[in-house]
Amino acid sequence: MDPYKYRPSSQYDTPFWTTNTGAPVWNNNNSTTVGPRGPVLLEDYHLVEKLAQFDRERIPERVVHARGASAKGFFEVTHDISHLTCADFLRAPGVQTPVIVRFSTVIHERGSPESLRDPRGFAVKFYTREGNFDMVGNNLPVFFIRDGIKFPDMIHALKPNPKSHIQEHWRIMDFFSHIPEACNMFTFLFDDIGIPADYRHMEGFGVHTFKLITKAGKETYVKFHWKPTCGVKNLLEDEAVMVGGANHSHATQDLYDSIAAGNFPEWKLMIQTMNIADEDKFDFDPLDDTKIWPEDMFPLQPVGRMVLNRNIDNFFAENEQLAFCPGVIVPGIYYSDDKMFQTRVFSYSDSQRHRLGPNYLMLPVNAPKCAHHNNHHEGFMNFMHRDEEVNYFPSRFDPVRHSERVPISQSRISGVREKACIHKENNFQQPGVRFRSWDPARQDRFIKRIVEMLSDPRVTPEIRSVWLSYWSQCDKTLGQRMASSLSMKSAM
Ligand code: HEM
Repeated sequence: MDPYKYRPSSQYDTPFWTTNTGAPVWNNNNSTTVGPRGPVLLEDYHLVEKLAQFDRERIPERVVHARGASAKGFFEVTHDISHLTCADFLRAPGVQTPVIVRFSTVIHERGSPESLRDPRGFAVKFYTREGNFDMVGNNLPVFFIRDGIKFPDMIHALKPNPKSHIQEHWRIMDFFSHIPEACNMFTFLFDDIGIPADYRHMEGFGVHTFKLITKAGKETYVKFHWKPTCGVKNLLEDEAVMVGGANHSHATQDLYDSIAAGNFPEWKLMIQTMNIADEDKFDFDPLDDTKIWPEDMFPLQPVGRMVLNRNIDNFFAENEQLAFCPGVIVPGIYYSDDKMFQTRVFSYSDSQRHRLGPNYLMLPVNAPKCAHHNNHHEGFMNFMHRDEEVNYFPSRFDPVRHSERVPISQSRISGVREKACIHKENNFQQPGVRFRSWDPARQDRFIKRIVEMLSDPRVTPEIRSVWLSYWSQCDKTLGQRMASSLSMKSAM
C-alpha cells in the first residue's frame, strides 16, 4: 500500500480524534488556557481549526428552490421509443439507469415550511452511460412567464419584501398585473392542487418542449410527464395550516420515512409527441411554456418507471451540493427553441459556479458515473489527481480523440435580431377552459384565493381592474363572479 496515498477523512477511520492535518487530539473538551480559568491561547491550533471550519459550514443556499429533499433510485424503460431517440438510456425496455431526484419548494429559505402554496421542483438526474441527463422540472405543467429576462423580477416579486422580509400579496399582484401570460399558471397554483400533500403524491413535468433525435437525425417535439403510482394528493388551506404547524418538514419526513420503511415511491414517465412540421397548425405556440398541449390532441404515451428505493446518506453532500442544469443533456435529446429553456441552459451552471465553486461537477453527487476526460481542470478546490504531461488538444502524445458524431438538431434558424414577444400569445383561452372544467365549489375556492390576494390594502383599484379584465377575458362569468366577490369583500 502506498503510505502517502490520500485517504478521505471519516470519523470511523482512526481510533482517536485528529486534526484535519492528522495530528492526534488528546483533549477535545478543554481549550488551551493560562491556568484553568483562562484566558485562551491562540496557539491552540485544534481549537482554531475546529471553530474556523464550523464558521464556514454553510454555503450559499440556492437562489430559488432552497428548501428540498432528495432520494436515489433507478429509472427503467418499459416501452420502446428507439424510433424517436438514440438516447442510450432509452435504448430498450428493461434498461435501468441510476437516478437521484430532488424535490423542492421555490420561494422561501432553506428551512421554510413545506406546506405553503408554491410550485414544487421535480428535478431528476439520470446517470447514463453517455453522461448525465438532468430533467429539471416542476409539479405543474406550465410556467408563469415565457421569456427568462423576466425571471429575476418575477422571483423578486414573489420573494419577501426587501424591506420587511415578508411575502406580500400586493407586490405579487402588482408584478403579475403586467404579465397576462401568467393567468394559466395561476389557474394551477391557486387551484386545489396548489399545495401538494407531500412529495410522493405529486406529478412532475419537464414543462418545456424538448426534441428527441434519432441517429438518422429525425427530430420530434416531446413533453415529459411524471405520474405518481400512489396517486395525487393535495392539501386545502386548513389542512395545510395543521400539517405545516405540526411539522415544518413534513414532506421531507414523509419521503425519508416511506423509503426507510420499504414503501418506495414510484412514478411512470409518459411523453406527448408532436410532429415538428405541424408546429404552426395550432392556436397556441407549442414552444410557449405557459401552455399545455391538450391531451386529447396529444395523448400520453408510456415510456418507463422511476422507483426511489434509497435514502441519501448525507444531506449536505447529496442535497446541498447537488446541482441540476437544464443544459445537461445526452445524445438523442435536445433543447427546443423555447426562449425560457434556452435561458435556463445558461443560468443554472452559472449559479452553481458561484454557489459551489468552479469544480462543482467533480463533487461525487454531480460527477458522471461513466468514464470522462477533458482538459478543463485546475481552479479552486480541484482535488483531481492528474500526472499526465499533455493537457492540451489535439496532441500526438494523447490518444484521446473526438467521440463518434452525436446528432444535433438540424432545423433551420434564420431571422433578424429582435426583442419581441411571440406572435401567438393566446393568454386567456387555456385558463378559461381549465376554469370551466371545475365543479362550482372548486371554482369558488379558486375565486376566493385570488380575491384574497387582490384584497391586500396596497392593491390599487387600477391593479384590481387589470386583473378583472384578465379573468373576464379568460371566462366572462369568472370575471363577473370575481368582481362581485371583490366588491362584497370590500363592503365588509
Ligand atoms: C433552481 C434559474 C425557470 C425549475 C434554479 C436555480 C436557478 C434557477 C439559478 C438554482 C440552481 C442551483 O443553485 O443549483 C432559473 C431561471 C429560469 C428558471 C433563470 C427562467 C429562465 C425554471 C422553470 C422551472 C424551474 C421554468 C421548471 C420547469 C427549477 C428547479 C430548481 C431550480 C426544479 C431546483 C433544482 C434543484 O433541486 O437543485 N432555477 N429557473 N426553473 N429551477 Fe429554475
